[in-house]
Amino acid sequence: MNTRKTFWISFGISMIGLMLFLSTPQAADKMEEAFRNSVFPNDFGPTTINVSHYPKKMQAYYKVFLKKCSKCHSVARPINAQFLELTPQGEKIAKKDDPIIFKDTDVWKVSPVIWDKYVHKMMAKHGAVITKKEGHEIYEFLVYDSKVRKTGAKTKEWEKQRERLLKNLEEITEGL
Ligand code: HEC
Repeated sequence: MNTRKTFWISFGISMIGLMLFLSTPQAADKMEEAFRNSVFPNDFGPTTINVSHYPKKMQAYYKVFLKKCSKCHSVARPINAQFLELTPQGEKIAKKDDPIIFKDTDVWKVSPVIWDKYVHKMMAKHGAVITKKEGHEIYEFLVYDSKVRKTGAKTKEWEKQRERLLKNLEEITEGL
């Protein structure tokens, strides 16, 4: 048998094997699960923030954030995240003044360490090149920005935007 023929025969057998594998329910479940885990509602939202009214320092940190947090996914992922970091004292005040932000953790996930945890998690990922200083600046920006865009006078607007993203995701993954 010539090598070309052998190649096509083994190629054919591998393809049949692959098709059989993909048609097993476990493989299909695994693929669906992988797909669902890789789809974030956040990704379907805006990819920029209007920072023109932010303090100069935060405007500078925003640039670091845009550069460093767009390498593996779009910055839409952090921009549209439900995360909101408040100090325990800030949380106490919000429970009186802004109780709506504790209504649904898919819209506002309030914690005293949430951005700290996620910035560290991202910095530790393979391929991330973020210095300690940059990480700290990004962290400060995210804490500040989340308060501005997701609380106080902006609660209703944020709720609407986040709910629209969650609805989009439901449509995209319908039937899975
Ligand atoms: C080296 C690649 C990489 C870089 C750089 C990176 N990310 Fe990620 N990010 C990921 C991956 C992979 C996921 C999905 C899995 C996970 O959550 O760990 C993710 C998910 C996220 C999520 C969604 C988490 C959730 O569970 O809802 C947020 C928010 C996020 N990243 C923020 C950031 C921020 C902020 C930065 C910049 C400091 C950043 N990412 C930089 C790889 C990266």
